[in-house]
Amino acid sequence: MSASLTAHSQEKKQIRTSQGRQRSLPATLASLSFTDNDYLDLSRHPRVAEAAIGAIRKSGSGARAARHLGGPCPEHQSLEKSLADWKGTEAALVFASGYQTPLGIIPSLVGTKDTVLLERNAHACLFDGARLSQARLRLFARNDPNSLEEALTSNQKLNPEGRVLIVAESLHSMDGDWVELSRLIDLKNRFGAWLLLDEAHANGITGSQGAGWAAEQGLAGQVDVQMGTLGKALGSSGGFVAASASVIDHFLNEARTFLFSTAPAPAAMAAASEALRLVRSSEGDRLRERLGQNIRLFSTALPSFQSGPIQPRVLKSNAAVIQARDFLRARGIEIAAIRPPTVPEGSARLRLSLSARHSEEDIRKLIVALAELPSV
Ligand SMILES: Cc1ncc(COP(=O)(O)O)c(C=O)c1O
Repeated sequence: MSASLTAHSQEKKQIRTSQGRQRSLPATLASLSFTDNDYLDLSRHPRVAEAAIGAIRKSGSGARAARHLGGPCPEHQSLEKSLADWKGTEAALVFASGYQTPLGIIPSLVGTKDTVLLERNAHACLFDGARLSQARLRLFARNDPNSLEEALTSNQKLNPEGRVLIVAESLHSMDGDWVELSRLIDLKNRFGAWLLLDEAHANGITGSQGAGWAAEQGLAGQVDVQMGTLGKALGSSGGFVAASASVIDHFLNEARTFLFSTAPAPAAMAAASEALRLVRSSEGDRLRERLGQNIRLFSTALPSFQSGPIQPRVLKSNAAVIQARDFLRARGIEIAAIRPPTVPEGSARLRLSLSARHSEEDIRKLIVALAELPSV
């Protein structure tokens, strides 16, 4: 007979605790926080909040049903139109979260006869979407020009008839580096593969009007599916894809996390629409400039760090990361202690997330505290 569920859970907790992997939800954060992804500080912007309140008054607190059943959703439709315009695509579709987006779209594109080529350290939702599709999963090393080519070549020999979907993040969520997109696109064109680019962390912060890394590189038109979340620089919640009208119609009919989930709340959609208006305006430019100043100040003092807002400091062991987090917390600074399974074993790290919200003084305080950190 198996142990009771409570006993099983307690045993698992003991194992996690001994490995430095036990998590709990924080009751409070230190006053100066570098843990969130609100890169442009829009989640508390008065115009964004007002838009959300207005949508609740007009359309109610919930969407009442999945999109096919719940009647017209003006906030969703209007946001989708703006997202498509921003991304330069014919259409866009919103999902209840960024996490649910690849869980719906990847299995709608590929199946048992096909292959997903995924970056080795990609976000969990991209892995989970690929696994759910039951396609062959091959991993490649990010920004290694040979690794993807080798995977494509060997896959072509093994499975010449199957479809191939390449999946990559533009700004990596944990490493903070930018993908070499032109190389990915060359290879996808050469091998006749499709490309899904997750711009979760890049949307809003780079490219003209903050339209993301593919836009910044002038390559957006060559990405088959541009994916994003509304929960980071857009300060709201939900996920989205932007693509041709036919591809979006395909997702609308085939993506199960779209079909079988209540549509996101109208307030979240209206908030994201208003945030997107700000992102595309001169205020968006001003906020990106503020964020850029913070990144420059930070990386001038600590040049080994990345050039974007996500600044990892790999300390390897879980215990060292927890110790470092507690050291900084005691100095009034909150930093995320990232451990497996979020990152691979042996690569636990501090993840600092810079925002336009931070003042110069905040960044200087962070630099001083990091310099005092015993193991950094
Ligand atoms: C690269 C990447 N993709 C997707 C997601 C999921 O987005 P959401 O938080 O909206 O579920 C995240 C969130 O952390 C992410 O980092």
